Amino acid sequence: MKKTIAYLPGDGVGPEVAGEAVKILLAIAKKFNHEFIFTETPIGAVAIDQTGNPFPDETKKLCEASDAILFGAIGDPKYDNDPSAKIRPELGLLEMRKTLGLYANVRPIFTFKNVLNKSPLKPEIISDVDFVVIRELIGGIYFGKRGRNKDRTSAFDTAEYNKTEITRVAKFAFELSKKRKKKLSVVDKANVLETSRLWRETIQAMEKEFPTIAVDYMFVDNAAMQIIKNPSQFDVIVTENMFGDILTDEASVITGSLGMLPSASIGEKTALYEPIHGSYPKAKGLNTANPIGSILSAAMLLEYSFGLKKESAAIYNAVEKVLDEGYGTKDITTDKVMGTKELGEKICSKIK
Ligand code: IPM
Ligand code: MG
Repeated sequence: MKKTIAYLPGDGVGPEVAGEAVKILLAIAKKFNHEFIFTETPIGAVAIDQTGNPFPDETKKLCEASDAILFGAIGDPKYDNDPSAKIRPELGLLEMRKTLGLYANVRPIFTFKNVLNKSPLKPEIISDVDFVVIRELIGGIYFGKRGRNKDRTSAFDTAEYNKTEITRVAKFAFELSKKRKKKLSVVDKANVLETSRLWRETIQAMEKEFPTIAVDYMFVDNAAMQIIKNPSQFDVIVTENMFGDILTDEASVITGSLGMLPSASIGEKTALYEPIHGSYPKAKGLNTANPIGSILSAAMLLEYSFGLKKESAAIYNAVEKVLDEGYGTKDITTDKVMGTKELGEKICSKIK
């Protein structure tokens, strides 16, 4: 199989972790006789420095023309503490998601047995955890009208959803539930928010189309508690943009490290794959960031965009083997601590 991949390393530790994912994909290509052609292009703070735009036109064109996008991370501290900055790196990511119509963000939450002791939660609570959060990615408060009043002493952000937006992401979640345990949890705040009431009404009306799926509805504050208290009750969760953002960072503590978790963003045009962690600027250039989130994102890319299940499984197995042998970056092991590059190479060696 011959495929093109737009490579967007981005900011902070993005280039380090995504660089390891590229190596893994090249090892897969060699072993299974495929050809993956990578083209690198800037996004985020790096792109602002080069072009003044966090999502330059040429990046957009390359993304649209490629078969998949492998993305590192976005964000730079020089913008974080400057509330008056007009252009921010994060805008590049939001614009990319919007332009490509990537409405379904898939964030699997699972554990590796050798990393269980790194979670602050008790092993007996987390050992069977295996669920997926489907986060709506291009609507809600992230993209609603926002602004300030004239003298800039008050501000507003608006959350808006329409039925079309809710239906397409809910359909995605229902379809995924069919392939899993047939249990879908809808997370909202329908006791307070009108958008949540529209979510609930829309999804309730869809239930009869999916008679084999058991659907339950949960308020987001309760869901935040249940994810810590009894996470193995969940199989597929579907929720709006900001709730999904917050709940998935929370859920990452189950795994033991935010650095372990991959994600896929799927929709109308080219799908995008990225670890759920941010740019982690403090670790930039230190070769200490955990590349596993990015490497598993590459595994998701093979499965979701190219339909290469065997190849994808080979990556998961390689990661598992390396972890079982006690290797890891310093966030997940005190046994055989390795740098980003060395861990990437170790995983690569299990594929070859
Ligand atoms: C994520 C990140 C982004 C988001 C930021 C970087 C804009 O936190 O992908 O979860 O809020 O969506
Ligand atoms: Mg986030």
